[in-house]
Amino acid sequence: MTRRSVILGAGAYLPKRVVTNNDLAAQMDTTDDWIIQRTGIRQRHVAAEGEFTSHLAVKASERALAAAGLKAADIDLIVLATTTPDETFPATATRVQALLGLTRGAAFDVQAVCAGFVFGLAVADNFIKVGQAETALVIGAETFTRLLDWNDRGTAVLFGDGAGAVVLKASYGDRGVLSTHLHSDGRGHDALYVDGGPSSTGRVGHVRMQGKEVFKHAVSKLAQVIQEALDANGMTADDIDWLVPHQANRRIIDGMADKYRLPREKVVVTVDRHANTSAASVPLALAEAMDDGRIKPGHLVVLEAIGGGLAWGAALVRM
Ligand code: ACO
Repeated sequence: MTRRSVILGAGAYLPKRVVTNNDLAAQMDTTDDWIIQRTGIRQRHVAAEGEFTSHLAVKASERALAAAGLKAADIDLIVLATTTPDETFPATATRVQALLGLTRGAAFDVQAVCAGFVFGLAVADNFIKVGQAETALVIGAETFTRLLDWNDRGTAVLFGDGAGAVVLKASYGDRGVLSTHLHSDGRGHDALYVDGGPSSTGRVGHVRMQGKEVFKHAVSKLAQVIQEALDANGMTADDIDWLVPHQANRRIIDGMADKYRLPREKVVVTVDRHANTSAASVPLALAEAMDDGRIKPGHLVVLEAIGGGLAWGAALVRM
């Protein structure tokens, strides 16, 4: 029997404050219409002052644990995907570990920007597959709006804050993460990056993006990696019950659905309400669709994401 990581439960948390497109239009040269037409985004959640990535992560984790029917003490690995750690070090995962009351196991961060959750899932899945962990918490959490240059309307309207988490448990059978597929290509650096950091400028910096370049890479690389995942498992698009894509832009999501001839009812979309929450986007969408009963045990789910690096990946999961 194959040892696999089953997703036992998922949880999501969004900060209370909602900022609509019209709120942004009141402070910069943009319109609700432009944002909806180009991205599908209608609103985003923004973390309160003093509300950190770890706080969002803990709330999502508590909900994931409750959905999984487990206690924090059952967890022996925490992998936290984030681009917006509370501090340069230590890993925000260790803060989450302490806030959850955990004193055993390992906790560390993974940095693959918007693809971070898929990367984190792959890392945790491999820990479980080789027997180095039994039960893992994989979290995507971001206070991404703290990286925004509010004078750059080309990026400021695109992002939001939030967190999503899943609990993985070792199991023997057909259910679980079937495979993960990760890629990076550092030549894509200039398409999307933050112009600061502890080793370069000594300040945090702001997001810089060549939107059209990112769009082009997103469409081609996501299509390739979904195909890679299907091929690796001897499956076709007809086998997919749900596509849970990275929520960057409605046009990219629709492009993927069309490419694989997936009806819109099989695609989980939250970008309209959450905007792009980077590493949190996939687990937020997954948690929502598991929580409202759309995604059921036995369903075949494709997770995919791309972001700065460039870094991109996909996971095929039998729920
Ligand atoms: N409001 C109004 N006008 C705007 C805004 C705004 N918020 N932002 C840009 N514009 C203007 C530009 O200045 C430009 O004006 P000009 O023609 O007078 O120069 C015009 O709109 C067109 O700008 P483009 O950048 O060419 O617009 P485009 O159609 O490419 O859409 C967008 C921009 C939405 C960013 C698109 O390129 C995109 O979605 N790219 C993908 C990027 C993405 O998703 N990034 C997220 C991070 S990466 C990831 O998660 C995959």
